[in-house]
Amino acid sequence: MWRDPPGGGYKTPIHVVAMLLLVAVLALTTVVSAEDASMGPVFVKEPPNRIDFSNGTGAVVECQARGNPQPDIIWVRSDGTAVGDVPGLRQVLPNGNLVFPPFRAEDYRQEVHAQVYSCLARSPAGSVHSRDVNVRAVVAQYFEVQVYDQFAIRGNAAIFKCQVPSFVADHVDVVGWIDSNGGSYVADAQSYGSIIKTEGMHARCALCPAL
Ligand SMILES: *[C@@H]1O[C@H](CO)[C@@H](O)[C@H](O)[C@H]1NC(C)=O
Repeated sequence: MWRDPPGGGYKTPIHVVAMLLLVAVLALTTVVSAEDASMGPVFVKEPPNRIDFSNGTGAVVECQARGNPQPDIIWVRSDGTAVGDVPGLRQVLPNGNLVFPPFRAEDYRQEVHAQVYSCLARSPAGSVHSRDVNVRAVVAQYFEVQVYDQFAIRGNAAIFKCQVPSFVADHVDVVGWIDSNGGSYVADAQSYGSIIKTEGMHARCALCPAL
């Protein structure tokens, strides 16, 4: 928007050229600095591979990532579909945490409580998937353990095994033994829930291996 200078001939005024140059320089600078500063998502807290919890406690699975721009966190199933809230059973918090509140036995839902999830951090600068997170909830229930009589030749060892019902065996650690005289025996990481009782009241005992 300028008038031809008096005297006719068309000339581009110098200040217009300068402005165009300035705009070009600014545009270049912006592009370069945006590239410099942008960073694809990186996990700050990647969730673990296994989450086992009971209906009485619930669980919080943390996932945090950083990057520039700050990535969004969403949770997906193994087929890649996004996970949403299920009232009272599952919540995806704005901070990226996946929350399983305590629930009543009758509210157990396999597609929520026995599911493979993964955390996805994404931004315009890229996206990154966490490892698979195998979530497994159990409903607390009553169980009893048993020990069967064992017979051994005098002087030899007898091995007693703590029989844990199979429906809870995955979640039970044997942490100790008590004998009929009230003696108690704890932990020996190798014995897998067995107790070795030699003649008399001497006994050794054990921990089941952890899950
Ligand atoms: C978990 O399940 C057990 C067994 O049904 C029940 O007694 C308990 O109240 C439940 N916990 C919660 C928080 O509902």
